[in-house]
Amino acid sequence: MNIRPARVDDLMGMQACNLQNLPENYTMKYYLYHILTWPQLSYVAEDHKGRIVGYILAKMEEDVPEGDDAHGHVTSISVLRSYRRLGLAKKLMVQSQEAMATVYRAAYVSLHVRKSNRAALSLYRDTLGFTVKDVEKKYYADGEDAYAMRLSLKHLA
Ligand code: ACO
Repeated sequence: MNIRPARVDDLMGMQACNLQNLPENYTMKYYLYHILTWPQLSYVAEDHKGRIVGYILAKMEEDVPEGDDAHGHVTSISVLRSYRRLGLAKKLMVQSQEAMATVYRAAYVSLHVRKSNRAALSLYRDTLGFTVKDVEKKYYADGEDAYAMRLSLKHLA
């Protein structure tokens, strides 16, 4: 399995992967905006035939109040079911985090995750060291709460 920066011609594969794995879906225009604006922050995992089996779609936060630190945000990450528990999501996260810190001087990375998403919570909290900053009530369309999580990137800058 190979991890590399996402390109515009990967977007259909990334969207297909997202549609299979998550109820939070995005327009092609939004994927394109990420890739064109922050080309270093989104990555794909591909199999030996070049098929997309996982992705991370990430950005820098745009509406940062004056005086607040620049920070990255993970819009979406997922890995196809038969490719899970191989360490792909961890690698996708680490690659993106490193680019956030070195290219954009991000002080931290943020994300939202469903309270019930045990696999993702374990990845973020136990494997990567994120902490819960806040609970956002009814954040998701179906009414589920989100944990707003953060990880400092200051050691990478
Ligand atoms: N149960 C418990 N812990 C888990 C699980 C699980 N099912 N999956 C991963 N982890 C934890 C473990 O600590 C694991 O380390 P280990 O295998 O050494 O024990 C660690 O995370 C790293 O796992 P990876 O193999 O890197 O994770 P994977 O490639 O399987 O992808 C992911 C994890 C992305 C959460 C995957 O399960 C998935 O695609 N789920 C559906 C989509 C999803 O929930 N995406 C996140 C939504 S939130 C957001 O996008 C910001």
